[in-house]
Amino acid sequence: MSDYLLEMKGIVKEFSGVKALDGIDLKVHPGEVVGLCGENGAGKSTMMKVLSAVYPYGTWDGEILWEGKPLQAASIRETEDAGIVIIHQELMLVPELSVAENIFLGREITNGGFLDYEAMNAEAARLMAELKMSHVNVAMPVSHYSGGVLQLIEIAKALGKNAKLLILDEPSSALSQTETEILLDLIRGLKHRNVACVYISHKLEEIEAIADTVTVIRDGQFIGSAPMSELTIDKIINMMVGRELTEKYPHEEHTIGDVIFEVRHINCYDPLNPQMKKVDDVSFQVRAGEILGIAGLVGAGRTEMASAIFGYYKGPHSLEVYLNGEQISVKDPEAAVKHGICMVPEDRKRHGIVPLLGVGQNITMAVLPRFTQGGLINEAAEFATIRGEIDRMGIKTASPVLAIASLSGGNQQKAVVSKMLLANPRVLILDEPTRGVDVGAKYEIYKLIYELAKQGIAIIMISSEMPEVLGISDRVLVIGEGQLRGDFVNDGTLTQEKILTAALTRRQMAA
Ligand SMILES: Nc1ncnc2c1ncn2[C@@H]1O[C@H](COP(=O)(O)OP(=O)(O)OP(=O)(O)O)[C@@H](O)[C@H]1O
Ligand SMILES: [Mg+2]
Repeated sequence: MSDYLLEMKGIVKEFSGVKALDGIDLKVHPGEVVGLCGENGAGKSTMMKVLSAVYPYGTWDGEILWEGKPLQAASIRETEDAGIVIIHQELMLVPELSVAENIFLGREITNGGFLDYEAMNAEAARLMAELKMSHVNVAMPVSHYSGGVLQLIEIAKALGKNAKLLILDEPSSALSQTETEILLDLIRGLKHRNVACVYISHKLEEIEAIADTVTVIRDGQFIGSAPMSELTIDKIINMMVGRELTEKYPHEEHTIGDVIFEVRHINCYDPLNPQMKKVDDVSFQVRAGEILGIAGLVGAGRTEMASAIFGYYKGPHSLEVYLNGEQISVKDPEAAVKHGICMVPEDRKRHGIVPLLGVGQNITMAVLPRFTQGGLINEAAEFATIRGEIDRMGIKTASPVLAIASLSGGNQQKAVVSKMLLANPRVLILDEPTRGVDVGAKYEIYKLIYELAKQGIAIIMISSEMPEVLGISDRVLVIGEGQLRGDFVNDGTLTQEKILTAALTRRQMAA
């Protein structure tokens, strides 16, 4: 018998004639953590969808051996029964169902023919407690929660399934540092129970921390596989991009002008629990050409703040917005875009894209009138713009008319950024702009941010990646528990520690 739990050999997967996977191998021992690395669009998610039979046997070529025997699964059900459990990159929770109902979706506990809510709630609560998420009310609809909690619910759902191999596709992109630590500890615990794991992440520090072995793929090709002990992050990057990446952050001179944008007294309350304040009287100004980083822990209220400014916060809220000294009303995103206030949202799937429309249609969506003459769309002009954007951002797509949902996660993100840039913003809010984006493409996005700053656009960048905030911001605001807790000029003396300390230091109540 083979001592591998899993052997994938020479996997080939085509989408309408284009090879997304071109003969890839992947091997996993029982209890081994394999880090799967590669740029956006390299084929990581596709490889895992082949394994879990999202793409059933017969829709790809090559061979999968599971515990030494050929695996020819026709459905996810079959691979789950075999012990292969996948947590997808894009979350699959049903917002209207409760946390417990989601965790037990498709394998509900019944008693005498009826759903046994008591048993499901108890087991769900146990799983959430294992993830140190005891404060989550498992009877509440999932829509009540956001960010890291959703990701952890998805993980709890997988834990309930008795996996021999757990596949985590970008599990930490919505997690805070603490939540990520919880997750990594959990994987170490599973490892002791001989559960293996394929861990996909663009955060290579996590790969370094958790992986026994690293497999790198590029453009659908197998590049190499080696024990982590023989690798470094720089070596992995080198294998991923095929060249050295020496600089992580571009440094480009840009002039900072006068204050062009100001918000005063942003207050937001929880939509379901209006007693609870999410954003507590935050005011700030941004100058033309200034890159204002907004740091804080995940869940500090930064996304709520940004959506209030952009006119789509769902709960009770109030704020004053000033553009060039004049108060304006931003009642919805359309009004915001008209005033030149644009936003790239955090939750791409919920707010950023229309999944079934083409890549191109998604890119030009916000500026269609520009291509319309006498009620007709000038398709040639629109197409030229789309082509230009796809080139400028390096969006990997076989064709601009492909549904955007078929692009890899990182490439969808580039398309969303592109869409907002076309709207010629004066103020651009970027909420976690590099989430799920590979190292090379990150650099491109930073360069773009500098380019926009040079044009005098005021940039507000929310990011949970401290090195990124420190790497490109001119000034950094720190938000903690909904309050503004720090305002620092990023003059080279600012550190992660200072930011964290500020985030955790409760503001003195005014006398
Ligand atoms: N359903 C589909 N139809 C057409 N092309 C697809 C489909 N799914 C994936 N592709 C293409 O296959 C390639 C690999 O995509 P995949 O999602 O596996 O990349 P990835 O390595 O997971 O990237 P990321 O880091 O951005 O998540 C991409 O070029 C993508 O556009
Ligand atoms: Mg992917």
